Parts: sequence; C-alpha cells; structure tokens
Amino acid sequence: MAKKKKLHIITHGCQMNIYDSVRIKESLADEYIDIPSPKGADLIIINTCSVREKPQIKVIAELENLRPLQRRNPNLIFVVAGCVAQQEKGNLIKRIPFLDLVIGPDKIANLPNILRDLKRGDKKQDTGFISGGFHLEEFAPLETFGKNGNVSAFVAVQKGCNKFCSYCIVPHVRGREKSRPHEEVIREIQNYSDAGVVEVTLLGQNITAYGEDLNGCDFADLLYKVAEIDKIKRIRFVTSHPADMTDKQIDAIANIDKVCNYLHLPIQCGSDRILELMNRGYTSGQYIDLIDRFRSRIPDLFVSGDMIVGFPGETEQEFEQTMEIIDRIEYDLLFSFIYSSRPGTKAARFDDPVSWDEKQKWLARLQERQKYHARKSNEKLLGTTQEVLVENISKRSPNDLTGKTTSNKYVNFTADSSLIGKFTQVKIVEAYQNSLRGELVK
Ligand code: SAH
Ligand code: SF4
Ligand code: F3S
Repeated sequence: MAKKKKLHIITHGCQMNIYDSVRIKESLADEYIDIPSPKGADLIIINTCSVREKPQIKVIAELENLRPLQRRNPNLIFVVAGCVAQQEKGNLIKRIPFLDLVIGPDKIANLPNILRDLKRGDKKQDTGFISGGFHLEEFAPLETFGKNGNVSAFVAVQKGCNKFCSYCIVPHVRGREKSRPHEEVIREIQNYSDAGVVEVTLLGQNITAYGEDLNGCDFADLLYKVAEIDKIKRIRFVTSHPADMTDKQIDAIANIDKVCNYLHLPIQCGSDRILELMNRGYTSGQYIDLIDRFRSRIPDLFVSGDMIVGFPGETEQEFEQTMEIIDRIEYDLLFSFIYSSRPGTKAARFDDPVSWDEKQKWLARLQERQKYHARKSNEKLLGTTQEVLVENISKRSPNDLTGKTTSNKYVNFTADSSLIGKFTQVKIVEAYQNSLRGELVK
C-alpha cells in the first residue's frame, strides 16, 4: 500500500464548519493522515467563516504565513473551503497566486475526487449549491469518528437558511434550508452510539425549522426519535430561532429527559425598531414571553444568546434596551459582537452613523454587565450535585478531569482518568467566571 500523504486542516467559524472538517478528514482518510501542525503537510485546508470582519483579508494573511512551507515541499497543495470560499469564489484564486483549490461548503463531498487529479498550480474552483434535501450519500460516512474514544458527537440535520436577517451572510454562503431525512440522521447517530458516543448535538443553522422542507417529521418529532436510541443519554441542539418555536417544540424539549437543560436562543438586540430592521420576525416582548414559557416548564433551564451591538442607525437609547433585556433574561452565557457589514446583505446599504469607537464602548459595557450574570449563573450551582459527562483530562492540571453538566457548564474535579467517557456525580464547590470546580461524590 502506498504511503499516506499528510493533511492539516485549520477550522474557523461555527459548529457546522467543525462538523464539515471532520467529514473532510474522514473522506480523505484513505489517502491522507491528519496531522496537528502545518509543518510537513502535503495538503493544507483552511475551512473559513465569513460571518464577521474582513474574512478574506484574514485568509490571505493566513496563507501568506504558510507559504514558506512550499519551499520545503513544492508539491504542497493549498485549499480554501467554507464560507469565504463560497463568498469570494474565483476572486481568491486571482488574489492568491499560490492557492490551488477553492471549494464551497455544499461541494466538499467532491473533494476526494478533485484532489485525486489536482496538481500544484491547477487553480480549480467548485462552489455551486446543491438543491433539494441533503443526503448521507453527499456525506463521507463518518466511520472512524466515535471509535477514537469520543463520547460526544455533532450531527448535521439541517443546513442553509431561509431567514435572510438583514445583516447576515449565512443564507448567501450556505444556500437555502435543506433538512436531512430523519432515517439518515438516526442511522448516523446509531453508528456513533455503537462506537461509544453517548451525547449528540444536532446541528442546523436554523434547527427549529427542521423538516419544513420534508413531509411529516418536524424538529419536535426528530427529538422524540433521537431520544428512542437507547445508548444516547444526552441530546443538545443549535441554533434555535425564536420565530419558529412552536408549543409542540417546547413540549418536546420539556418532556424528553434526555434533552439537556440548556437552550441557545439568540434575540440579537432589545429594540423592536432594530429587530424589525434586522428582519428577525419577533418583538422583544414575544421573545421574553417565550423564555418565560420555557422557564415555567423547565425551572432550571440555562439560557444563552447572541447580541449584535451597533446595528446601522441604532441609537444609544436603543442600545439601552439591549442592556435591559440582558437584565430581564439574566443570560447564563452570552455571545456579543459589534455589527459587521457583510457584502451583498440588505443592511450593508443602511446608513451607519455611529463610530466604531462608540460601538466598542457599548460592547464593553454590555460585556461587563454580562460578567455579573455569568458569575451569578455559576454561583447558582454552588453546593448542588451535578451529573457530569467526563470528556477529558483537564488542560490545566494532569490530576484533574473536565466534563460538562446538562446545563453546558464545564466542571473540573480531581479523579482517576478511568472515568473519561462516563457519567459521574460531582458536587460543585467553587464557582468562577467561566467554569466550576467540583468534588467527586463517592
Ligand atoms: N442562525 C443563527 C446564527 C448564526 S450566525 C441565529 O439566527 O441565531 C451566529 C451569530 O453571529 C448570530 O447570532 C449573530 O449574533 C452574529 N452575526 C451574524 N451576522 C453578523 C454581522 N453581520 N455582524 C455581527 N454579528 C453577526
Ligand atoms: Fe443568519 Fe438570521 Fe439565518 Fe441566523 S436566522 S443564519 S442570523 S439569516
Ligand atoms: Fe461562519 Fe459559515 Fe458558520 S459564515 S458562522 S462558518 S455558517
């Protein structure tokens, strides 16, 4: 058998990109081994994200840094994949003379074939969209995944987005919503569970719209079906959209014990005028009502969200409404960003008079306030005993293990590494800003 070549993948962006990178590695596994550093690689793939801030400039800088490696290996092939590839297409090939291939997220199943014939300097691109539902056949079978001792797996169930929020590039680079037939999703999860996986995170850019393009199985139905797989003990999912949440979904999330007590439900901002300009499809009042309904059904639900600060034309008063929402919801975790204009989106044409400096001050205020809620959220768990799924040895101390609670919080505690991959009871004894310290309950 010929000696395998070496592959290095750099992954930016959301869980969907992480999932795609795993698929890329799996699909190339016959010919390439995956190495953790770019040194010595025969193939370097950058899986890019274009959701914010000058991503094409970043990818060019990243490739320039890697370019000297070609002096040692003149056959080294550079590939740009992911959302910047989709957005920029052939422009990247024109701007980066030593780039060999640009491949869009819908086309990564073609990668093994393309690479088989590709030679240095060919300069190819494959960035079309696939229409219709998406199927296992378009995917590399994830055969080795899970067999590497992973206990938690991502599973793509839906991709693309029809929402067209006015600021967002995702529908432009990932195409329209496509759901994967539930039989295929279940088959993939069963494979994982046979290999030892006990926790799955169902992925979709807009997962609450799952099944709208299929007949007969919506997101709530899918949750019930996944829960039937015996060896899967925890189910997570991202990202939910407030405008799609139905009572049936709330029921499923509340009723299925295996669904974790954690909900990521972004509001984006607190002002109804801005929400309308963002094209989000709900008011702040409707969002609050939704969270209240969830909390009345699941009292210990942990909630996270996303906020965009400084949308074009947002006034200071409107920003204050975002601050009010943060105090009203008391987010356990919040991801916050300064608005970033994206080419081709509707909001890119709006007037944007507030300076970047001012927006940075707003963001700093918001993040300072959120620190208070994050700490309070961790303190809520002090003294309680939590079920922790042990993931690994802690990066900070070789005597400690690290794992997650159902509410998605990391807990570090001292114990023997034989517990990795198992559920264990841990008493929370210290609460920090971003993590918890616990003691094993014997
Ligand atoms: N589908 C998910 C979000 C995907 S993008 C949802 O609707 O919630 C992840 C987050 O990036 C978004 O929630 C938003 O807060 C942020 N984001 C998206 N576009 C952005 C932009 N142009 N500028 C700043 N933040 C943005
Ligand atoms: Fe972007 Fe909105 Fe779609 Fe989320 S729902 S991916 S923010 S367009
Ligand atoms: Fe980024 Fe594409 Fe995900 S733009 S956030 S990698 S869908």
